[in-house]
Amino acid sequence: MAAKRSIIIDTDPGIDDALAIFLACASPEFDIRAITTVAGNVGINRTTRNALQLTELAGRVSIPVHRGADRPLRGSWTTIEDIHGQNGLGDIDLPAPSRTEFSTAAVDALIALLSDAAADSMTLVLIGPQTNLALALQRKPAIANAIREIAVMGGTLEPEGGNATRFAEFNIHVDPVAADIVLKAGRPMIWAPLEVARQASVDALWIDLLRAVSRPCTVAAAGMLDFYLRSFARPTAALYDPLTILALLMPELFELRSAALEIDVSEGETAGQTRFRLSDGDGQVRVAATCHADRVRTVLLERLAAL
Ligand code: BDR
Ligand code: CA
Repeated sequence: MAAKRSIIIDTDPGIDDALAIFLACASPEFDIRAITTVAGNVGINRTTRNALQLTELAGRVSIPVHRGADRPLRGSWTTIEDIHGQNGLGDIDLPAPSRTEFSTAAVDALIALLSDAAADSMTLVLIGPQTNLALALQRKPAIANAIREIAVMGGTLEPEGGNATRFAEFNIHVDPVAADIVLKAGRPMIWAPLEVARQASVDALWIDLLRAVSRPCTVAAAGMLDFYLRSFARPTAALYDPLTILALLMPELFELRSAALEIDVSEGETAGQTRFRLSDGDGQVRVAATCHADRVRTVLLERLAAL
């Protein structure tokens, strides 16, 4: 087997974050070096506790969890318990964590891990507001050299296709300044925007198939997704965050386009808007424009079933 890919997951769990964490844990191709938490879907105490509970349920208590930023770089933000539940995990009960997070804060952990890593060796998976990595890059810009690639769930291809506002997707809207700092670090990036995530939506039947696997993580994930489906009040729910993991594992499941990207860091109504200009190559980032949705759902189900 090829050498494992070292990844750090920066996350605000979050129902779809939970699915992404489970998927990463279920993927032997990855060496998960750390999980860093950030405030986003719910507050930092919750996202940190959730990361501990989720990794424990997946049997991966050896993955260090580091508490991160409790607010964006600028201004404030609004948590979205209506989508993710009061506890951030669809209000299902998970066993209390048997351990606490590491004493090293997320920004310090990112700096230490990236400072110690070889050039182009570490993959960052950013599935919440990007505050932690932005702070780390501000404090020690040289850590960018260690980054092989950054996989991001965020943004929209359509200029007015947002979910937080008409113009902006939630993760980028919460902290556009951070996303801009990360983008300007100039490392290779792969973006999964809202549109591609919506293509890979799941319905009640898919959730029942997941539950029927009857493993602790699949039963928990199905319970969370029941809540998610109800909160969207539609027959299907978009699985945003796991797409970053899938795009790293199986890029062939996506139509990846080269693009130039600009992030709106204004404080006006377009704050957090992502302006992708698709090109025929040589763009600054790669963005998933479409995906093979059936394959995405199948691979996700197969992988989670093996956890
Ligand atoms: C993103 O926002 C959060 O609610 C989800 O976890 C996902 O990361 C989708 O806009
Ligand atoms: Ca998230």
